[in-house]
Amino acid sequence: MIIGRRKFIVKATICGIYVIALLLIAKRVMRISDNFSWNNQSLPSQYSKTNTLRYTNLERYSSWLEEYEAQIIPGLGENGRPANLYGKEKLEAQKVLEEKALNILLSDRISLSRSLPDVRDPLCRNITVGVTSLPTASVIIIFYNEPLSVVLRTITSVLNNSPKEILQEVILVDDASDEDDLQGKLEFYLMKRFDTERVKLIRLPERRGLIRARLKGAKAASGEVLVFLDAHCEVIVQWLEPLLMRIQKKTDAVVMPIIDNISEETLEYYHDNRPEFFQVGGFTWSGDFTWIDIQEKEIVGRKSKIAPVRSPTMAGGLFAINRSYFWKIGSYDEKMDGWGGENLEMSFRIWQCGGSLEVTPCSRVGHIFRNFHPYKFPNDKDTHGINTARLVYVWMDEYKRLFLLHRDEFKDDIEEKIGDITDRVELRKKLGCKGFRWYLENIYPEKFVPDENVIAYGKVKMKERNICLDNLQRDEDKPYDLGVYGCHSRLYPSQLFSLSNAGELRRDEICAVVNLEDVMSRRAKVKMIDCRERGDEKEWILTDSGNLVHASTGLCLDGTGLTPKTDVYVAPCSNVLGQFWQFEFYSDSVTPR
Ligand SMILES: *[C@@H]1O[C@H](CO)[C@@H](O)[C@H](O)[C@H]1NC(C)=O
Ligand SMILES: *[C@@H]1O[C@H](CO)[C@@H](O)[C@H](O)[C@H]1NC(C)=O
Ligand SMILES: *[C@@H]1O[C@H](CO)[C@@H](O)[C@H](O)[C@H]1NC(C)=O
Ligand SMILES: *[C@@H]1O[C@H](CO)[C@@H](O)[C@H](O)[C@H]1NC(C)=O
Repeated sequence: MIIGRRKFIVKATICGIYVIALLLIAKRVMRISDNFSWNNQSLPSQYSKTNTLRYTNLERYSSWLEEYEAQIIPGLGENGRPANLYGKEKLEAQKVLEEKALNILLSDRISLSRSLPDVRDPLCRNITVGVTSLPTASVIIIFYNEPLSVVLRTITSVLNNSPKEILQEVILVDDASDEDDLQGKLEFYLMKRFDTERVKLIRLPERRGLIRARLKGAKAASGEVLVFLDAHCEVIVQWLEPLLMRIQKKTDAVVMPIIDNISEETLEYYHDNRPEFFQVGGFTWSGDFTWIDIQEKEIVGRKSKIAPVRSPTMAGGLFAINRSYFWKIGSYDEKMDGWGGENLEMSFRIWQCGGSLEVTPCSRVGHIFRNFHPYKFPNDKDTHGINTARLVYVWMDEYKRLFLLHRDEFKDDIEEKIGDITDRVELRKKLGCKGFRWYLENIYPEKFVPDENVIAYGKVKMKERNICLDNLQRDEDKPYDLGVYGCHSRLYPSQLFSLSNAGELRRDEICAVVNLEDVMSRRAKVKMIDCRERGDEKEWILTDSGNLVHASTGLCLDGTGLTPKTDVYVAPCSNVLGQFWQFEFYSDSVTPR
């Protein structure tokens, strides 16, 4: 297969400038029609016989398709099992994996219709649905320079696992990819292997970003429900029905599947062995999405373990929404560029304007989580930051102060920096939406507000040294040791701490504790653990002179002699500088030092 690919490249190079010139012309022709689809019988106009280049290419694409399908190894990755390549291929695959954060060569060798495990709770198998009674769905998949076999597997799994009666169409929106594979080869594959009445391709003439590409797809859709899906997913059996059932029952419910994890290296379909285990969406005050445990009140009020669970926010890539509700509730903020922020915007908007965000446990979709994004965004602009600032100003009311604590560049000259937000503010008024305080109190009461009910917050700096408490980017999903680092000039999330009125030294849901066993050693470290695993007693006391005293041991937080990136500890209180700490901000009740 590798030799075949090389030959292909050599041939292409020989054609050289001639081909490039013709391609440029062809591309122009293609871009004139922004939106095209074709049926199985006739070639799309771009491929018409009058266009000699395209016509010649058809033969080349035929042999490519043959080659592509011949390289597939039967049984590889079947039932979602981890797969591997061997020898020279393994090395080559490893190189691509490092470059693109995805094992593309392996993906090319795995069948597009491989089977996947039915990871649902067994109770889900007992639900019988008459599919003809369900609404129809348009599945919208946006892609930009995604590996071809990964996109094709996403489409294939949707076609294989969705009843024809309810799958109105799959709409692909190409956000002007420039990868060669996604041009003629993609079109050729769609034409040859899919029912092109059902799988449609829209090409954007230039890069518009995720948000506008989604809007384009939504405008073209004709199903009663829109289902947005990332281009690197695989759905499992009956993934669609539970989403539609829920929306049919509650029109303003925006519904998500449980998102399972597909390995970017082995394409294993990971799943927790407890099918009832999953997380829902939260957010950070710096404006990022996070996964959180299902909230207490949701568990308590739940009728069955397969009932929908409410989620404060959504990750954004995978959800279903009633099409007319999507438009009524304000679709997306069209002035958001690139990608990022749109998921929190939609989450707050849905909740504040009367809808709900829910996870339906019987619907499951696998998603490849890459640990970095190998593609640049237009102009390297910080679209995530700007988009987030837009939503913060529209939806978060006085709580925007907490975002601005991290991003003070968005404090002033905002129109210049984030653009006009009048439309969105008006939308909020028109829909009669509730405030952000209501959202926090009713939808996300567990959310810790770093400057409410606290004695002090912000950076925690060692006296007379430029050293601050810092989580050192450690994984906060499990206990870790608290460290120090050079103080940043602005407040980075890793240096935001609060001392609560309840005596917790905490950051979000993570609290600083001292293990009594550790105190036997001279320098006991400070452990950061889930606050719920801590008792109710006061843990830390801030003295007037700035000592942070650990209440039950009487020891003092100490950074004497520490260099950045080391762990802080507790020691018997003494008059050393390393035991005096200064918070960036103090609540009014305490005099600033
Ligand atoms: C499914 O339904 C059948 C018949 O109603 C019942 O016997 C069985 O226990 C159910 N399975 C589960 C997992 O609830
Ligand atoms: C499209 O055409 C191919 C042959 O060119 C055929 O194998 C395939 O079944 C057709 N698909 C549909 C949906 O008619
Ligand atoms: C979607 O919402 C509209 C109006 O909000 C409603 O008339 C329609 O029945 C809903 N469709 C489905 C499938 O629930
Ligand atoms: C996916 O699973 C792998 C292996 O268990 C893990 O390292 C990774 O963090 C997971 N990613 C997500 C987003 O859950």
